[in-house]
Amino acid sequence: MGLKQEIEKRKTFGIISHPDAGKTTLTEKLLLFGGAIQVAGAVKSNKIKKHATSDFMAIEKQRGISVATSVMAFNYREKQINILDTPGHKDFAEDTYRTLTAVDSAIVVIDVAKGVETQTEKLVGVCKGRETPMIVFVNKMDREGKDGFDLLDEIEQKLNMKAIPMTWPIGMGQDFKGVYNIFEKKLVLFSPHGKQSEEDIIEIEDLNDPILEERVGDRLAKELRDEANLIDEVYPTFDREAYLKGELNPVFFGSAVNNFGVKELLDCFVEIAPGPLSRTTEERVVEPMENQFTGFIFKIHANMDPKHRDRIAFLRVCSGTFRRNTNYLHVRKDKKIKFSNPTAFMASKKSIVDESYPGDIVGLYDSGNFKIGDGLTEGEKLHFIGIPSFSPEQFRYIENGDPMKSKQLQKGIQQLMEEGVAQMFTKEDNGRKIIGTVGALQFDVLQYRLEHEYGAKCLYEPINLYKACWIDAEDPAKLNEFVQRRKNNIARDIEKEYVFLAESRYMLQSAQDNHPDVQFYFSSERK
Ligand code: G4P
Repeated sequence: MGLKQEIEKRKTFGIISHPDAGKTTLTEKLLLFGGAIQVAGAVKSNKIKKHATSDFMAIEKQRGISVATSVMAFNYREKQINILDTPGHKDFAEDTYRTLTAVDSAIVVIDVAKGVETQTEKLVGVCKGRETPMIVFVNKMDREGKDGFDLLDEIEQKLNMKAIPMTWPIGMGQDFKGVYNIFEKKLVLFSPHGKQSEEDIIEIEDLNDPILEERVGDRLAKELRDEANLIDEVYPTFDREAYLKGELNPVFFGSAVNNFGVKELLDCFVEIAPGPLSRTTEERVVEPMENQFTGFIFKIHANMDPKHRDRIAFLRVCSGTFRRNTNYLHVRKDKKIKFSNPTAFMASKKSIVDESYPGDIVGLYDSGNFKIGDGLTEGEKLHFIGIPSFSPEQFRYIENGDPMKSKQLQKGIQQLMEEGVAQMFTKEDNGRKIIGTVGALQFDVLQYRLEHEYGAKCLYEPINLYKACWIDAEDPAKLNEFVQRRKNNIARDIEKEYVFLAESRYMLQSAQDNHPDVQFYFSSERK
């Protein structure tokens, strides 16, 4: 098969949701369709258990196991589908943000009873910023929940999406009878526990067909007709180009646990979702069809076992063919490296691959060469962009807890920051080091790993900070003036870039108001 066919075969996406909306269940059902797993529960057992949320070691252990489920590939209708797992736990949000840089589209799962929740809002915001095409799956229709139209309004308002229903629910909760597939004009009837049969799918050209009354009862038949009319009037017809540009979002209704509505979602997904998309570098845009291989590292997963300090770097192939045992240029380090055991992930199995194509994710064994955002090429000096650090939300001073081990501490911090566990800022006025994270658990993870992997001890001290944001100005003199004036609130990140440390929302606002020439950015890429 040529490069072109390999590229056209692939669809790489991530599922995003607030915890508990049903992401794991949906993933599992999708894998069952692809025949990638035989039994339900295979993915579930890898999930970070809810009761473990306060126990970070358990979470880290689960994360260790979850290397296998980081990427799950399966074949469906002649496509190779790569699902990238995105941790739902808010403390690992940064992992999720970065994983989203490696997908070409996303499916957003919403719980019909809870509607749009905070984590969903954040993650959709990240995808929106990148114009990632998104499909919405409203889950748990077997439970009582919000009215369909109200939910679409909520999706439009809170997620800033242009929602367009592709299926429409008939009743809900106890009364849930199934969905009407608006675009295929089919009635898909619901029987709990996934016991769907051919007879449950009825072609229905005209909604006035009395078969509707027969199958869903008079009241729901009337309701569906009224609602279908309203949908016709209010919502535009589906336009794939607009979806691909991230301007329109198809919405499906179903129940993942009952395997209902999932096939409709998957069938539509393989039809409309984009294949491998181009990626941007500082130098130029890289197209998947280019012959020369390029790729970037979007995630690094450390082995928690101190005896095996290796890490797995996750590479997204962007163009050309990636080959085993071939020398590639590590652009940041300006050195050639080759990989003898690149790993592909087929559902729960890992296997060594000889060749990978755009859209694929390859696991590379790494002994400390990589950091997030690194590019690999056949020789061209390309710097991939779009893999930023995000403005952290929790901060503590970090101090050395064992003066005999300061070298180990330095090395440990350096490596763990490269891996993306947290971010470190050094204050300009007194040189003190501040750790910033998205979630509180990261502090424990960092402390534990410094001790167990590097033999170093760290101590934390509280600091009152609201946000750290990157700053810049067109006129270097203006930036300098700001830095001088606000010296007590200025630090540098590990790339030595200036960061403004705001103690409160008010302080940030007033700095922005008083210094219109200075730009404040909430990601390291100045967006
Ligand atoms: P997450 O990955 O998004 O966190 O969610 P997950 O799939 O683990 O689902 C969260 C809970 O919601 C699970 O119940 C799951 O069984 C349930 N669920 C998923 N889809 C549906 C659905 O369509 N209808 C209903 N009624 N429930 C659904 P749990 O009790 O937390 O776990 P379990 O003991 O069932 O595994």
